[in-house]
Parts: sequence; C-alpha cells; structure tokens
Amino acid sequence: MPVFSDGLGLSVTAASGEAAAAFGGTVEGYVRFTRDTGDRLKNTLTADPDMPLAHVTQGYFMKLFGTKAMALRADKALGTAKELSSRIAITDREQGHLAALDNWCAGNIDGAADAWESVLLDHPTDMLALRLAHFAHFYAGDGSKMRDSVARVLPSWDKSHPLYGNLIGMYGFGLEESGDYRRGERMAREAVDIDPKDAWSVHAVAHVMEMEGRHREGIDWIQGLEPHWSSVHNFRFHVWWHRTLFHLERYEFDTVLELYDSQVASDLEADQYLDVVNAAALLWRLELYGIKVGPERWAALAELAKNHLDDHELVFVSLHYLMALLGAGRMEEAGELVEKLRAYADGEGTRGQTQAKVTKKVGLALAGAMTAIRTGNPSRAVSLIWPVRYDIRLIGGSHAQRDVFEEMLVDASLKGNDPRIARALLAERTTRKPHSAWSWQRYGDALGDTPEATSAKSRADELLAQA
Ligand SMILES: [Fe+2]
Repeated sequence: MPVFSDGLGLSVTAASGEAAAAFGGTVEGYVRFTRDTGDRLKNTLTADPDMPLAHVTQGYFMKLFGTKAMALRADKALGTAKELSSRIAITDREQGHLAALDNWCAGNIDGAADAWESVLLDHPTDMLALRLAHFAHFYAGDGSKMRDSVARVLPSWDKSHPLYGNLIGMYGFGLEESGDYRRGERMAREAVDIDPKDAWSVHAVAHVMEMEGRHREGIDWIQGLEPHWSSVHNFRFHVWWHRTLFHLERYEFDTVLELYDSQVASDLEADQYLDVVNAAALLWRLELYGIKVGPERWAALAELAKNHLDDHELVFVSLHYLMALLGAGRMEEAGELVEKLRAYADGEGTRGQTQAKVTKKVGLALAGAMTAIRTGNPSRAVSLIWPVRYDIRLIGGSHAQRDVFEEMLVDASLKGNDPRIARALLAERTTRKPHSAWSWQRYGDALGDTPEATSAKSRADELLAQA
C-alpha cells in the first residue's frame, strides 16, 4: 500500500491521500480536544477501512476511555491492526505505534511509553506519539518525563506547524508539574495566545496559579477565557473543577456547590472517568472543609462507580470510584472494589502490568486509608498513608489532583491520636502552601492552646479577609 501525507508533515500508509488527510485531521482533533474526534476517526476508516495506523489509533482511543469494556474493544482493534500489518507493508513509525498499542493492551503502560518515545527519536513531530507519551507520563505521576519528552522534540518543530501551540502548552504543563512555575506559565500563556481554545494550556496556567496560591487570579484567568475553552469535550468540566478549587481556597462554598451542580457534575450520564474524578474529589474536599454536600450528590456518583468495580486501567481512577462509593455510604460495594483491586494487584495474570505494580505499592494503602476514614478509624488511615506518602505520585494525575490524599491525611492526623504527625504535616504544608487558609486553620488546631496556634489562626483570618 502506498504512503501519503497526513497534512501534519508525516507519511502514513493508506489507500488514498484523502484517507491520509482524514487521519491527520483525527490526530488534530484528539490533540485539540474536539467533540467530533471519534467521528473523524470513523470518517478515516470509511475512506480506508484497511489503514493500519487508523486501527491502532482506534485501539488507543478505546484504551483512553479507561474501562474494561473499552479495553476489550482495544484488543480487537489491535488484532485487526496486527492482521493488516502482516499483509501490508507498513513504515517503521507505524510499527512503533503497533508495538506501543501491543504493550498498552498487555497492561504494560511503561512499555507503551518507551515505544512512543522510541518513535519520537526518529519522528520528533509525531504528535500522536508525543501526546500519548504525555498521557502515560502524566499517569505515572512523572513531571520530569512530561517536561523532557517535549523538550527533546522542540528544536525539530516549526512554529508554522498547526499544532505548535499545543506542543508548547504541553511543555508548559510538564514544566509546571516538575516545579518550574515561571517557565511553565510563560510557555502555556504563549500557547493560549496562539489558540485560546487550547484547554490543556489554559489549564496548565491554572495549575501554576493553584500551586502558587494565586486564587483570585486563577478565577479571573479561567473565567476570562471561558467562551473559548468551554467549547471542548468533557475536559471542559476539569477546567471548571480547577475554578472550583480556587473558590474553595477562598471559602466561597456556595459558589463551589453551584458550579458543582451546574458544570462539574452536569454530564455524569456521559460516564467519563474524568468527570467522576473531578466530582468525587471535590465532594470529598468540601467535606474536609466542613461543608455538608448532601446524600444525593454522592449517590449520583456512586451509581456510576458501581459499574466500574472491574476497571483496572488506572488505579488513580479506581480510587476515585472508591471515594464515590464510600461518600455514598455504600460500604458493601466499596469493600468489593477494594477486594477486586487487591486480587488484581496480586493476580498471576497481572505480573508486569504497570497499574498492578502501582496498586500493590501504594493504591491498596490509599484504598484502605479511605475506608478507615469512613469507618471512623482515622489513626489507621494515618498509619496506612504515612509510610507511602512519597509514593503517592506513582498513581498519576497532577499535583493538584493528588493533593486530596494529602488533605485527607492531614485531617485524619488531626482526628487520630498522634498530634505530632498533625503538627509535622501542617508545618510542612503551610510552608509549601502559605496562601492556604484551610492549612493555617488546621495548623492552629494542631498546635493546641499555644501562642503559635493563635498566630496560625490569625494568618488564616488574614488570608480570608484578603480574599
Ligand atoms: Fe488539572
């Protein structure tokens, strides 16, 4: 089969130029978070039902759903891609993608990331490989890899490339997640200047503001660009979630709940894991702030979570499903989820699987801790989280997302019977997040009846008065 240009500077094995261009449009849709990305892939496969890379990409998209049901469909797409490549000569780049999907379907996400990085050594402008490597590094909680993966290819990109803005926005997010807030913000802002609809980059700037405690600025930033980023697919609810975090830090709880109902949890029927991740973490945080969120909100999340007890694509996501079940008080299903996680981590067939290893190393401890919190045993929660807290990053997600586990540890340490840990954690946290009124208030609680406690509470009051 001949090769044609995909319109993004790369050659793809295809039946026609039309099919190759449709494939390029699919990659563009995926990177830009367009709502019609799935249709774009369907059109590609209509134009050329035997395009190997289109079938591999179908497998990728299925895996990105993060569910067992979709993983089975990814296996099918992999089988088709392998069969096609046995009778159609494909390029080395396409072989690399096939190897990546093969690894991913076998549960070896690290192996998939290696395959994408290998493709990028020869084809540094392969945005499909780069964006998927970005995803894999994100769910490995590895900000350095997110940063360096993009840095390695940057010199090969021309500013006239249609996805150049997305590229530097990804770099900005990698810089932020690896702690370089100044350069991260600069890169991500440049990306937003190029395309204000680039929600990933808008959100990278919001991450910088979250990490630096620039809460009012964060609200203004997200609000000011809303007409642009709100046109993207369900990722827009994650941007809304970021906005609610800023309001939460300012104790604007009515606004948080209003935005929870009207935006963050407004499309739960789509059954997308990120929506549940956003929503469950927000409800849990609200409760840590002493806000009653009511049983209905938890119940709606639990209704979705109960259908995902067997999904083991990402332990980060499973832990949020567990949050939903525990929040709703559905202890039996919560226990079932934990047992299934345990069986997955220990299972013969999961040896070498990236997520099984992470589940074993840290996921089960977090699951046990959350269960202990909801069954009135905060000391047990502390004893489970404390030894693994520097491994929590392995479950992936962003610093901002994983902070809910730190917050639950802080709260459990205050309610448990070891005030030394509460004081130590809050000394650390108020240094890292000096603009967090919640942290200063909790530090005041931890310090007991002392002048230092009075001063910590005053700091919280000052921050809230300035808000
Ligand atoms: Fe985020």
